[in-house]
Amino acid sequence: MTTDQTIVIVGASLAGARAAQTLREEGFGGPVTLIGEEDETPYERPPLSKDYLMGKHGREKLYVQPREWYGENDVDLRLGTRVTDLDPAAHEIVLSGGQRTGYSRLLLATGSSPRRLSVPGADLGGVLYLRYVGDSDRIKAAFENAARVAVIGAGWIGLETAAAARAAGAEVTVLEMAELPLLRVLGREVAEVFARLHEQNGVDLRCGVQVAEITAGGQGTAGGVRLADGTQIDADVVIAGIGITPNVELAAAGGLAVNNGVVTDERLRTSDPDVFAAGDVANAFHPLLGKHIRVEHWANARHQPVAAAKAMLGQDASYDRVPYFYTDQYDLGMEYAGYVEPGGYEEVVFRGDVPGREFIAFWLGDDSRVLAGMNVNIWDVNEAIGALVRSGKPVSKDALRDASIPLESLA
Ligand SMILES: Cc1cc2nc3c(=O)[nH]c(=O)nc-3n(C[C@H](O)[C@H](O)[C@H](O)COP(=O)(O)OP(=O)(O)OC[C@H]3O[C@@H](n4cnc5c(N)ncnc54)[C@H](O)[C@@H]3O)c2cc1C
Ligand SMILES: NC(=O)c1ccc[n+]([C@@H]2O[C@H](COP(=O)([O-])OP(=O)(O)OC[C@H]3O[C@@H](n4cnc5c(N)ncnc54)[C@H](O)[C@@H]3O)[C@@H](O)[C@H]2O)c1
Repeated sequence: MTTDQTIVIVGASLAGARAAQTLREEGFGGPVTLIGEEDETPYERPPLSKDYLMGKHGREKLYVQPREWYGENDVDLRLGTRVTDLDPAAHEIVLSGGQRTGYSRLLLATGSSPRRLSVPGADLGGVLYLRYVGDSDRIKAAFENAARVAVIGAGWIGLETAAAARAAGAEVTVLEMAELPLLRVLGREVAEVFARLHEQNGVDLRCGVQVAEITAGGQGTAGGVRLADGTQIDADVVIAGIGITPNVELAAAGGLAVNNGVVTDERLRTSDPDVFAAGDVANAFHPLLGKHIRVEHWANARHQPVAAAKAMLGQDASYDRVPYFYTDQYDLGMEYAGYVEPGGYEEVVFRGDVPGREFIAFWLGDDSRVLAGMNVNIWDVNEAIGALVRSGKPVSKDALRDASIPLESLA
């Protein structure tokens, strides 16, 4: 890329900001424009359901880069601006005001949006979602006056928010349609750990339920949830965390290949050679796994745009990091490395104390390869777990169970 060429990034959150940073770190001297619909300086979302929600720190700790960084690095940061159309043939995007902006290379870092409830009453005030910093502020404020919180969905948002609601002193009911929390991601063996964690912390966890209606309280606000079997759960606030959908509208408008996200190769290049995608929105070919995957987690949004930015500059960069995520709930902190499709493993082997929540879980394939591993309240082992996953070698189950054997020796 030469300095007379322009790079435009749509989506000014973690993935977008990291791409802009990488372009400058790699010495690109041409114009970089970072366009985002939100009004806030690009920020990270994980604290919104954890420390920020619990009031442990303020906004200043959320930012990917301080606001001054963008000016100092000559990144044209345009906030509060929605991109409404993409014209790959003309190499132009269209902004919400109708203005057209040209690009030489474009990165789509448009992320994802929360799925909305579609049951009667879903539009009542007091039904809250958690994606943006303002949502976290609203939920935090609601916790101050809420004695009873109903959470719909026992995925990551539901469980982390339930933990924060308990910390705020509320009575919490979690309503999940599947048999267990996090069942699709973790499978039964480890999903049970999260069910016990929440029950032991006083959450009324109800799995296998169907939400039929958000019932009205007073003044147009939610007063609770009615289940399909007629059960009524009264609540002062209802929080829904029922998954996300990738923001593919622009890619679709531009005629790019879209299938569960924007389809890219391992260099994060879409079906148009001058358009790239990274973060939650990208369904990228992963060379280690040999298939396309779309990852909805922080580490992917942090690292994938680095590869995308390098590839946009014409470098030989591809993205093959072992997928990683983490959570903090009550006294449980964990990290997970690897990738398992729902039900796509043979066995889970544990090392350590599962009831005491100090253990490592390994998901094994039918050939005893480690597909993924999760360290719970045990630290400095995640890299070794990632190396085991990356090695693709069959590993003895006894060795995995035996805490006296260093994981490094098994990879
Ligand atoms: C509350 C919460 C807690 C989380 N906690 C964890 C965690 O503990 N661990 C973990 O691994 N992951 C966590 N995640 C997931 C992680 O935050 C996401 O994977 C990450 O935010 C994805 O980053 P992204 O930049 O790809 O997309 P996003 O963060 O979704 O950002 C996309 C941005 O693009 C903007 N945009 C979209 N379309 C347009 C358009 N047409 N024009 C202009 N702008 C547009 C959006 O407004 C948004 O600002 C959490 C997510 C949430 C919501
Ligand atoms: N620690 C982390 O990694 C972390 C933390 C927070 C958010 N996130 C990300 O944020 C995004 C949103 O999280 P999320 O928890 O909303 O999604 P999720 O996909 O993790 O979980 C959604 C849950 O809601 C359930 N559900 C769906 N519809 C339902 C309904 N009508 N009634 C009851 N239950 C229903 C699903 O079975 C599932 O358990 C995801 O991309 C997630 O990866 C990640």
